[in-house]
Amino acid sequence: MSDWTTADMPRQDGVIAAVTGANSGIGFVAARELARAGATTVLAVRNLDKGSEAAEKIRADVPDADVTVRRLDLADLSSVRGFADELAASHDGLDLLVNNAGVMAIPQRSTADGFEMQLGTNHLGHFALTGLLLGRLRKRARPRVVTVASSAHHYGRIDFDNLQGERRYRPWAVYCQSKLANLLFTQELRRRAEAAGLPLTAVAAHPGYAATNLQGVGPQMASNRLVGAVGGAIMAIGNTVFAQSEELGALPTLYAATMPDLAGGSYVGPDRMREMWGHPTLVKPSRAARDPETARRLWEISEELTNVRYDF
Ligand SMILES: NC(=O)c1ccc[n+]([C@@H]2O[C@H](COP(=O)([O-])OP(=O)(O)OC[C@H]3O[C@@H](n4cnc5c(N)ncnc54)[C@H](OP(=O)(O)O)[C@@H]3O)[C@@H](O)[C@H]2O)c1
Repeated sequence: MSDWTTADMPRQDGVIAAVTGANSGIGFVAARELARAGATTVLAVRNLDKGSEAAEKIRADVPDADVTVRRLDLADLSSVRGFADELAASHDGLDLLVNNAGVMAIPQRSTADGFEMQLGTNHLGHFALTGLLLGRLRKRARPRVVTVASSAHHYGRIDFDNLQGERRYRPWAVYCQSKLANLLFTQELRRRAEAAGLPLTAVAAHPGYAATNLQGVGPQMASNRLVGAVGGAIMAIGNTVFAQSEELGALPTLYAATMPDLAGGSYVGPDRMREMWGHPTLVKPSRAARDPETARRLWEISEELTNVRYDF
């Protein structure tokens, strides 16, 4: 897969795809390129105005793009259910779900259902979404779920005694935990689908370090203005000096989403500078991300918290 680009992407005609957080960054580029390749693409966004703007940008670039915008707030389970119901009503099935949306290292906040915001958005929201869409995915011959993780997962641990920062909230540790959860989810989804004989491919990807809005959100939300300004400036310098473009950052996700015969459980990331930059290659999840017992436990807790049970 040396220097794989979107030019190497197979056509996606007939594919129905949904991308969460498709209005900006990695999700936007992934949705645009899927649409360019012929996929019917649903932009799942929490802000419909931003989503419509993104759809217009895609149509300006790809005039025959088949894109629609639908509201999905992963930090609100009633919105996740609403999105899944709408999708079920409007689309016959779903070939590809890209669990991409995320927040990083933000101050402590709660979702509508009282979950810690980073775990709630990055993991629990996508856990519920995938489970609620399983019926649509099952309708297709070779459904695929791509979940966007991060190299940050290497620094994460699932702290079952402080899963939602109840005892102590450290924004980065909580982000790393949520990204580790993305990989454990992928492994457990693969295992459970396989055990049920469901031909669903569950894979993960990460963009390396890409300049997107992600790095600015935490500093913008800081309660102390000075801390926010300094944090924002550091992130902006980092994005200018060290980060690759969102176009390159989206390639691992697109590879994971479209390459045939990719083995279930694969993890795709950039091939250079300790996975910070470059073109897609298979990368190795941490040992913690491969631990089946943690994956099983997290799955069961996620089912309990979200009240979504997968009907394999
Ligand atoms: N950029 C990097 O260097 C990097 C590195 C490792 C991993 N990642 C991962 O890549 C993924 C995409 O991030 P990005 O870099 O493209 O950042 P981004 O440009 O900030 O995109 C994040 C997207 O998630 C959406 N979102 C946030 N909270 C949401 C919610 N409650 N419900 C629905 N959508 C929500 C955002 O919507 P709004 O625009 O409305 O806020 C935005 O569309 C994330 O999972 C992130 O963890 C990124």
